[in-house]
Amino acid sequence: MEELEIIKPDDWHVHFRDNDILKVVVPETTKHFARAIVMPNLTPPILNGKQAIEYKERIIKIIPKTHNFEPLMTIYLTENTNKSELYDSYQEGHVFAAKLYPAGATTNSDSGVRDIKKIMPVLEKMAKVGMPLLIHGEVTHKEIDIFDREKVFIDQNLDFICKELPELKITLEHITTKEATEYVDEGNENLFASITPHHLALNRNSIFVGGIRPHNYCLPILKREKHRKALIKVATNGNRKFFLGTDTAPHLKGDKENACGCAGVFNASYCISILAQIFENYKCLQNLEKFTSINGAQHYGIPINNEKILIKKEKNPILFKKSLSVGCSEIVVFNPEFPVFWKVA
Ligand code: DOR
Ligand code: ZN
Repeated sequence: MEELEIIKPDDWHVHFRDNDILKVVVPETTKHFARAIVMPNLTPPILNGKQAIEYKERIIKIIPKTHNFEPLMTIYLTENTNKSELYDSYQEGHVFAAKLYPAGATTNSDSGVRDIKKIMPVLEKMAKVGMPLLIHGEVTHKEIDIFDREKVFIDQNLDFICKELPELKITLEHITTKEATEYVDEGNENLFASITPHHLALNRNSIFVGGIRPHNYCLPILKREKHRKALIKVATNGNRKFFLGTDTAPHLKGDKENACGCAGVFNASYCISILAQIFENYKCLQNLEKFTSINGAQHYGIPINNEKILIKKEKNPILFKKSLSVGCSEIVVFNPEFPVFWKVA
């Protein structure tokens, strides 16, 4: 197959940031995606409907006129989130979902949740009204090995939430382990998961190839090959419980190449090409559309996009641009370092 038409994809997890970075990264997403769920972990975070509306306006100003794109806004849950305010902004259509960051789990998550029990009344309200909960599924205790934090979160927290509130619509975001694929696949009907292109493309060796590779450092951290294979299996077989959330997470180069480098992979520019290549490598191109454009919309109960995009296979591997300029700095663009022949026309 040299050409493939698919329903225009959605990105169910993106970091747009703000100010100078926002201006540069938004068009990289809006050129290929119809909609994206925008993460609220700014400094300071998006804590209420008013902040979400203002942030949405800042995003909309930047979308190129030729790109048809809708940002779906989220609110950052804290132990002080007001459930009626959250409900109002959801009912009024200003926010799409709420995000649970365990405090300290990742970039700008310090105001996140320390004790899940404290937010159970908010989650109960969300379950009642059908508002989706997005979860960064990692525990943060320092004594837990970084490679086990997702599995321990599932055992200690997610399982509790799912049992208490089986009707709550949950996305376990950017999953990285075989255990997560199994828990979601076999778990309750309202539990789904998103997967990033970088967790499909790489295993943890890629963080340490002849030295330390800060641009492959993200959270949850890349795992062993057996885990990558488990992610590949559920993504490429079209399993309806799994869909694309790129977790494209821009940081300036100096903040990545640093003694204490930030977590995040900026993959917006070529994610569809990379995914097409991965799906072709696993002889599952026919399921690409389910992963990028159908499963997520069905989980969130919103219409599938009308537009289509065309992906073409080139004779030679496509040449990736290395970075995007931001003032006098730059954002390094993710390159999986295997040949990618597919190009979005
Ligand atoms: O690698 C990551 N970067 N993982 C996250 O969960 C957050 C993100 C960011 O905001 O930089
Ligand atoms: Zn993220």
